[in-house]
Amino acid sequence: MNAQKTAFSGIQPTAIPTLGNYLGALRNYVALSGTHRCFYSIVDMHAITVRQDPETLRRRVRELYALLLACGPNPDNTVLYVQSHVPAHAELCWILNNFTMFGELSRMTQFKDKSAKHADNINAGLFTYPVLQAADILLYGAHVVPIGDDQKQHLELSRDVAVRFNGVYGDVFVVPEPLIPKLGGRIMSLADPSRKMDKSDPNPAGYISMLDDRDVIIKKCKKAVTDSGAEVRYDPAEKPGVANLMTIYAICTGKEPEQVEREFAGQGYGAFKTAVGEAADGVLSPIRAKALELIQDPAHLDRLMAEGAARAEAVALPVLRKVRDSVGFLPRI
Ligand code: TRP
Repeated sequence: MNAQKTAFSGIQPTAIPTLGNYLGALRNYVALSGTHRCFYSIVDMHAITVRQDPETLRRRVRELYALLLACGPNPDNTVLYVQSHVPAHAELCWILNNFTMFGELSRMTQFKDKSAKHADNINAGLFTYPVLQAADILLYGAHVVPIGDDQKQHLELSRDVAVRFNGVYGDVFVVPEPLIPKLGGRIMSLADPSRKMDKSDPNPAGYISMLDDRDVIIKKCKKAVTDSGAEVRYDPAEKPGVANLMTIYAICTGKEPEQVEREFAGQGYGAFKTAVGEAADGVLSPIRAKALELIQDPAHLDRLMAEGAARAEAVALPVLRKVRDSVGFLPRI
């Protein structure tokens, strides 16, 4: 790896990623791997903050690994690994717990949302979830963190924790910057354009999974909730459903929303929706084909994961050593 700056991001293996995840995150992971040293982690330790079926979790981790590989990040600059394979994350998380305030964690909107959703299991892991996220990022000295805008608050906390730690012990951590895409950071549900497209949505009509086939993708786009008008116009406030489809189409075809407006002027929603589905399938189908091929060979995937974990650990351990030393742990000789 010869890139100068480091990028880190984590993605949860709780469901197959959606078109929204691809356009808002994975696509940018690939772009960044052209210029940055990139660490992309499948965060299974974050996933268990809500109850997971063990067999399903194992399958999801392999599927996600295959999908990330299939997106085609530059392999020389990219380390793709599973978070729980690198115990340094858990160790740094414990240390950083002592530099994170109860009040700060209480203000996290994701914690409040998830507590409401899983009222029967508001566990300590759910509460300290952002501390583990800070540990992820800080372990690799990441300069930038590509995220969707729902993760801004967590990144702000990571920065605060890094600054606080550095304030006590000197410049141990790099203070990371968020990298939020101009377009696509917030792809909305096809069934309810007031909500973000969510891979865990109980209603599959709301999202396009990265493994959905062409027919399903087109069908879901055709059924997407829009409005009673007939004009393909980019107006997120008045026409959120149409604006969302336009964003999808624009990114998938590399056009600007204004161009899309001109292209479909006077055509109504029917033709437009089909075109959106075709454009989405155009982007997803090569990735889907590659991922499905990789999933056929789990032993091969497991070897790649082991290599990734070794490369990640080689970078994480020196940072962890510095942290341990900073707080006054005696080295085990
Ligand atoms: N919390 C992030 C999400 O739900 C996932 C995540 C975990 C992450 N660790 C991270 C993202 C580190 C960026 C950097 O999307």
